Amino acid sequence: MKPVVMSTTKGLRILIRNFEMRDLKRVMEIDEAASLEGDETLYIELFREWPEGFIVAEVDGMVIGFEVLVLTPEGEGRIFSIAVDSRFRGKGVGRALLKTAFALLRKYKIGFVRLEVRVSNWVAQQLYRSMGFVEIGFVPFYYKDGEAAILMRKVL
Ligand SMILES: CC(C)(COP(=O)(O)OP(=O)(O)OC[C@H]1O[C@@H](n2cnc3c(N)ncnc32)[C@H](O)[C@@H]1OP(=O)(O)O)[C@@H](O)C(=O)NCCC(=O)NCCS
Repeated sequence: MKPVVMSTTKGLRILIRNFEMRDLKRVMEIDEAASLEGDETLYIELFREWPEGFIVAEVDGMVIGFEVLVLTPEGEGRIFSIAVDSRFRGKGVGRALLKTAFALLRKYKIGFVRLEVRVSNWVAQQLYRSMGFVEIGFVPFYYKDGEAAILMRKVL
C-alpha cells in the first residue's frame, strides 16, 4: 500500500503505511507492553510471507501501533495481531488500522475476516463488535496462560 495520512474518528492525524524491518524493535516494544506474547521470528516470517499485510501507524515519525494480517488456508483474512501504544489508545488508531485491513482484504476479494480475542479483553471485543464482528466460537485454553479465546468473524 501507498502510505496514507488520515485523521482518525477522534481527530488524531496518523500515517498508515506498511511495516519495514527497521520498525521491528518498536513493534516488539508495543507488543510486549500490550502483553501480546508476539514472537519476533514469527512476525518476520509473516512479514516475508505477505509484506502488505503488516501495517503500522505513525505519529510524528514514531510507530504507535501495528497490525499483522494473514490469509488462512480457507481463503479468509485473519487479524493475527493488533496493538496500539497505551499512550495513544482511545484515539481511533485501532479502528483506523482495522478499516485499513478491511480495505486491503476487499482488494483481494476476500469475503471474511476472523480473529481471536481473550475472554477478558472487553475493550478489544467492544471495538470488534462495533466494526461488525460477531462471535462464532470459543476456544478454551487458547492462550499460553490458559485463558480462553472468543472467535469472531466479519463479512467484508
Ligand atoms: C484493542 C486496541 C488495539 C484498540 O486500539 P485503540 O486505538 O485504543 O482503539 P480505538 O481508539 O480505535 O477505539 C475504538 C473502540 O474501542 C473501544 N475502546 C477503546 N478504548 C476503550 C476504553 N479505554 N474502554 C472501553 N472501550 C474502549 C471503544 O468501543 C472505542 O469506540 P469509540 O471509538 O466509539 O470510542 C488497544 O486497546 C490495544 O492495543 N490493546 C492492547 C492489545 C490488545 O488487546 N490487542 C487486541 C488483541 S485481540
